[in-house]
Amino acid sequence: MNINWYPGHMKVAVDKLKQSLKLVDIVAEVIDARIPLSSRNPVLDDILENKARILILNKADLSDPNQNEKWKRHYEQMDMGVMIVDALNNKDLKSLRKTCEKELVEKRERDKKRNIFDDTIRMMIVGIPNVGKSTIINQIAGRSGARVGNKPGVTKANQWIKSENKIQLLDTPGVLWPKFEDPEVGLNLAFTGAITDNILDTENLALKLIGRLRYYEKNLKERYKIDYDVENTDLEIMQMIAEKRGAILKGGVIDYFKISNTILSEFRKGKIGRITLERI
Ligand code: G4P
Repeated sequence: MNINWYPGHMKVAVDKLKQSLKLVDIVAEVIDARIPLSSRNPVLDDILENKARILILNKADLSDPNQNEKWKRHYEQMDMGVMIVDALNNKDLKSLRKTCEKELVEKRERDKKRNIFDDTIRMMIVGIPNVGKSTIINQIAGRSGARVGNKPGVTKANQWIKSENKIQLLDTPGVLWPKFEDPEVGLNLAFTGAITDNILDTENLALKLIGRLRYYEKNLKERYKIDYDVENTDLEIMQMIAEKRGAILKGGVIDYFKISNTILSEFRKGKIGRITLERI
């Protein structure tokens, strides 16, 4: 995926989002639990104003369970309902209704005063590309099997998905752009494969990832059956991995491109273990 966000694109995205917001009671922002800061765009805070919201930390099958809990508490303190989810395996989406309901207490009270007793929750999913928005929508749609037809006043692009627990979901997610200004954010998005723009060449990206995996030394040692200590440089660790994996060219030269691709791909698939790259 090639993401080029120019101010024009951003304006169109914001306008579209604002239009869709009018149709829903609550917004579910999806982020990648491996990079709980870099996969957010704070612009959403401005767009949402007082709209009820929840935060879904997705890809929990790939992220560090201890860190998941820490991030959950962190975001809960910021007054958001937070869920830790593995959408790929349809895990822990069941509490969606309960999490939303907590955020809708004020709305329910307002409705009651106006004699409105409709407890349907109209919701939309938003987030930057690749965090799992479509996967979540498909899991919800798949469970109930129902994509509802158009509603009056809703453009054809917006269809509603009815879930079994009286949640109606807009089937088109709101797409936010990643926040690129900080180079660290760009790196994190590249590590997880959220962007494939060439921020760095493959070898340098893999080398930087090894540096980030110092927190997860045990995982790296076990996965590649290597041994090293703090004295060893990231490059030396990469060379050890290459030797173990036989990524050696003719003449005994290390095939850095090959081993870099292996490391990046295995990290993205969770083969090095459940890893969170950002700490509070
Ligand atoms: P998006 O709508 O936010 O852009 O994301 P989408 O659902 O398309 O998901 C992006 C990739 O992330 C998909 O992989 C999807 O299977 C994967 N994914 C979504 N949720 C989870 C999860 O909870 N755990 C794991 N492990 N993966 C998840 P893909 O089809 O292989 O796409 P790509 O990686 O080739 O881009």
